[in-house]
Amino acid sequence: MSYRILITEPIVDSVIEKLEEHYEVVVGTRGQYSDEETLVQAIPEFDALLPMLSCPVTERVLRAGSRLKIVANHAVGYNNIDVEAARQEGVKVANTPGVLSESSADCAMALMLAVARKIVDAQQFLYDGKFDGWDPLAFLGMELNDKTLGIFGMGRIGTAVARRARAFGMHITYHNRSRVDEETEQKLEAEFIPELDTLVEQADVLSLNCPLTDETHHAIDAGMLERMPDHALLINTARGPVVDEAALAEALHNGTIGGAGLDVFEEEPEVHPDLLSAPNCVLTPHIASATHETRKAIGMLAANAIIGVLEGTPDEEIPNLIQD
Ligand code: GLV
Repeated sequence: MSYRILITEPIVDSVIEKLEEHYEVVVGTRGQYSDEETLVQAIPEFDALLPMLSCPVTERVLRAGSRLKIVANHAVGYNNIDVEAARQEGVKVANTPGVLSESSADCAMALMLAVARKIVDAQQFLYDGKFDGWDPLAFLGMELNDKTLGIFGMGRIGTAVARRARAFGMHITYHNRSRVDEETEQKLEAEFIPELDTLVEQADVLSLNCPLTDETHHAIDAGMLERMPDHALLINTARGPVVDEAALAEALHNGTIGGAGLDVFEEEPEVHPDLLSAPNCVLTPHIASATHETRKAIGMLAANAIIGVLEGTPDEEIPNLIQD
């Protein structure tokens, strides 16, 4: 009997073709499996699921998956999967660490530069036909050189952001569950800040690079935003719910902070209306890992975990299985 794989929506062709070499593959249409009920109805017929980060792989879905052996998320973040329920149902879970660190860090830097230098507003000004010659006072922004970057979440992506920011002359501070190794700290001249409040108070730019967990949900709330210096910029390429979006919109409108670059939102695809009207914001539609290279690598890593599990490879030899 051939195994059946559900890929919830179209991904890079070569990844689909790779799975088709081994199995019967069904590819959903864009957004088809974004709700729990549709997944619950479909899942009994599949041995493996390759979902997007927008698919709620809940306890109900996992219970309904009587043949299901693995869920290989098309993302590094896996807050859309009930990992504990998967463990109880004997379903393995994989994510895609490592392959998107560079593209995500590029995106964090792009947002940082775009907000600090008012690139989007300046472009709009030009498109609006308002450019009337070089202006000594127009679009004055913040220089990154000699500023302090606070990184919340110093995993692979946070470290990749730090490497880039060093090249821009920034001082690196970070807060993480645990300190990174001494060699990395030294190389990045990175200072570990044991308290998140202190990191937030000292940073000219705060970059969020942590996973979404119960502990990090709304870690940046109204109180934390109040602690940020009023010129400081918030960059979020992690997960929307790490920030209280309504409080952030208010802080931007009130000038409590200087600006924000956001790639992720609390209720995607919705964006808080007060954010859309907030000053000094650059907002992008969750594209941090969106490069040809990375999206292919994400798909291949997820596909390899599926092949590994279905072909009986020992767990220890499948590097991206989540073991917690
Ligand atoms: C993207 O947000 C990811 O988690 O891979």
